[in-house]
Amino acid sequence: MENQKKRIFSGIQPSGELTLGSYMGAIKSWVNLQDQYECVYCIVDMHAITVRQVPADLRRRALEQLAQYIACGLDPEKNIMFIQSHVPQHAELSWVLSCYTQFGELSRMTQFKQKSQQHADNITAGLFTYPVLMAADILLYQTDLVPVGADQKQHVEICRDIAQRFNGVYSETFTLPEPFIPKMGARVMSLASPENKMSKSDPGGCVYLLEKPEDILRKFKKAVTDSEAAVRFDPAGKPGVSNLMQIYAAATGKSLEDIEAEFDGQGYGIFKETVGEAVVELLRPFREETQRLLADKAYLEGVYRQGAERASRIAGRTLSKVYKKVGFLPR
Ligand code: TRP
Repeated sequence: MENQKKRIFSGIQPSGELTLGSYMGAIKSWVNLQDQYECVYCIVDMHAITVRQVPADLRRRALEQLAQYIACGLDPEKNIMFIQSHVPQHAELSWVLSCYTQFGELSRMTQFKQKSQQHADNITAGLFTYPVLMAADILLYQTDLVPVGADQKQHVEICRDIAQRFNGVYSETFTLPEPFIPKMGARVMSLASPENKMSKSDPGGCVYLLEKPEDILRKFKKAVTDSEAAVRFDPAGKPGVSNLMQIYAAATGKSLEDIEAEFDGQGYGIFKETVGEAVVELLRPFREETQRLLADKAYLEGVYRQGAERASRIAGRTLSKVYKKVGFLPR
């Protein structure tokens, strides 16, 4: 019997290095989902090529990300983890769905408008139909819940619209997915400009999960604070200090009051150093485990092959239904 757990699908682009922000804000909470839900994690390399990638980097990051998710505690037996391009049903369903998607509704996608400005010299059909491939990702697995940030909500909505339209024409085929906002950890801000979210595109303010301890410590020492010299939680008035306090709280489990007491009467120098050291210690086992996994290519290959097989079995069932409903002759 199939299990009755709700299914979660999430896609992650292998287009940059993972950061402390993504770890504390998202990945850590995924570990808590794995017993309660049936989780499918897809490394979406096909989405990544909607903008130019260096092929060797794309390959390396796909494998590195898989290793990092496992190192964070995602169990490849409990979760289905795979690479999008290994499961051909994604491209196949995407084509069918593109014939049930309006040019006009894709033109209204905020991300398309933004990205086509950023990459004005390379506005491809792939960038335009990106949400259709994302809809295929989600719908192939009869997904109930899609954990997404605010920037991807519109894409989940268009996915629902496409699914509903298809179901309306051909009878119930796809589960309608809901956006899912998991209980988030801390919202980690940039160390260099603490009014902005920590982002991989801002190397000075951002800590990468695989970064060397001395580099991490240096970034914390340079973290922007204020001139008051008091460790006190006040996100509006003291964004830099408050961000460091939150990071320290997330890394050590201490409360904000305890942290205020711990650094009462001390300067920022020792505070920033202590936070940096706590982050280094938090990330050390994770970095070592990632490196151990990356040295064991055979193991990682086994994980993504087995993941693709399990994914393909589910995806294949959905795709056959779809092919039958639209009227393709069975082979
Ligand atoms: N578009 C998502 C992002 O950039 C990645 C993604 C691709 C995704 N397919 C998905 C997310 C399916 C959730 C579900 O973040």
